[in-house]
Amino acid sequence: MITTDFAGIPAVTGTGDVPGLPTEAELTRLANLFFEDTYGGALTDTLASDGSLTKAAASARQYCPGVISANENPADPFTGAGEVKSYSPSVLSAREAEEQSRQTAGSADQYAPSTGLYGGTPEKTGKAGVGDQYGNDGIIIGSKSLEQIRQDFPILQEKVNSHPLIWMDNGATTQRPKAVIDRLSYYYEHENSNVHRGAHTLAARSTDAYEGARQTVADFIGAPSKDNIVFVRGTTEGINLVAQSFVRPRLKPGDEIILSLLEHHANIVPWQLVAQKTGAVIKVIPVDESGQLILSEYEKLFSKNTRFVSVTQVSNVLGTITPVAEIISIAHAHGVPVLVDGAQSVAHIPVNVSALDADFFVFSGHKIYAPTGIGALYGKKELLEEAEPYHGGGNMIADVTFERTIYNPAPNKFEAGTGSIGDAVALGAALDYLSGIGMPEIARYEHELVGYGMRELGKIDGLTLIGTATEKSSALSFVLDGYSIDQVGQYLDSQGIAVRTGHHCAQPILRHYGLEGVVRPTLALYNTPQDVDALVRAIKTIH
Ligand SMILES: Cc1ncc(COP(=O)(O)O)c(C=O)c1O
Repeated sequence: MITTDFAGIPAVTGTGDVPGLPTEAELTRLANLFFEDTYGGALTDTLASDGSLTKAAASARQYCPGVISANENPADPFTGAGEVKSYSPSVLSAREAEEQSRQTAGSADQYAPSTGLYGGTPEKTGKAGVGDQYGNDGIIIGSKSLEQIRQDFPILQEKVNSHPLIWMDNGATTQRPKAVIDRLSYYYEHENSNVHRGAHTLAARSTDAYEGARQTVADFIGAPSKDNIVFVRGTTEGINLVAQSFVRPRLKPGDEIILSLLEHHANIVPWQLVAQKTGAVIKVIPVDESGQLILSEYEKLFSKNTRFVSVTQVSNVLGTITPVAEIISIAHAHGVPVLVDGAQSVAHIPVNVSALDADFFVFSGHKIYAPTGIGALYGKKELLEEAEPYHGGGNMIADVTFERTIYNPAPNKFEAGTGSIGDAVALGAALDYLSGIGMPEIARYEHELVGYGMRELGKIDGLTLIGTATEKSSALSFVLDGYSIDQVGQYLDSQGIAVRTGHHCAQPILRHYGLEGVVRPTLALYNTPQDVDALVRAIKTIH
């Protein structure tokens, strides 16, 4: 028996074993397998003495919603691991990839010679340090080779202007792996229903999938509970929600909000709107030459009127990784809560909101290999409870009369109306996909690739890199003497290389450098040293 129960909402009960289909025990075994693949350890709790799933096993099944749904749908052919994989494609691939990488380890090259990029741990690859073959099979990122990762993204097979597509516009949006595309299709083919209402089977399936995705988000960013996670449309909506629902009611004229010079307009304009209505004032953390925040200046901005700090973890233009742990601890020493804008960080570096002690953290699905129109806001429980509702409507209420409304507890309090359910489920699949590979390994690979890109671009005559902080992620912004940014962008597009040109919704930081725009290649998990080489070659031959 699978039962879901959400605060203030009646329990929804799913079906149990179906004759001819795998038993609960088999499903639990598969959930264990998945847990082991993803988290490196087995779930010891499986079945309780009465044969029902224990709490731990049930929560593991939330990671694998396709499995649960297959069991619930007698019409589905479902005979074993092969099918499990097709229902929930990210589930078994990590183990298979690990196996394959072990098999090829001895012969595979671990270094791409033109880059010095390290392609795997010595245990995995056996011959670390001795390689001479230049190829993506030789670069191992966590449980997969770079080539396997590239194969996971169908759009990377596209040709653009007769050239193979090189996608370097990841800061604007990332591409989606097949696991995400399949999960979205599976949702609409087998689970689609509104959530939390009605007691029919599809409502139970979509609710399980939706709430399972919420748990996946919580685990991915180290939140204590899925109740800390509010689904929003993206980073922009998450910041506006915090500004209007938590900060605005606490402000009076003369109160101060601290932002940084690196912020995207999405982390500036919502605070201006709030400041205009309340008479609050915005103060700005300055940056040094390299584009890193100056912590000593930040400390000086605090006064008895400081009420809130909102900063980005990674600059979308300069790629600077900011010292958010220190920023938070300094703010907390003054009793001030902090929001971290994770739009450009969460896909590239491991994030743990509990370790950071962030009060709020926001990110967008589409920048982390998931669909557009979905994102997540993390908030500490007590702060979400204190915050006022953002929108009013159905789903967020416990009881309504014409005189008053009693709201559901967070997160439902902030999710008025019907959300983007399928996209939330697919966001869960994207995070599972990344966890299956390994975020620390992804961060390590991207760090080396960004370093390689900076070094190679830095050798080009007339090219000025914008943003040279030691700690950088993804962005390789530059300007080129003798060419407008549009000319560079158009020429690169003619060579199949997609980069963004313009102000990137971060005019204050660009104007600090005396610029109105830059060319911004942004790297992601599937970019290769060869992509960087092609970019450098194209810039050198621009005409
Ligand atoms: C640092 C940063 N914050 C916020 C946003 C806004 O994200 P979204 O448009 O997904 O809401 C972006 C988008 O580029 C960003 O780079």
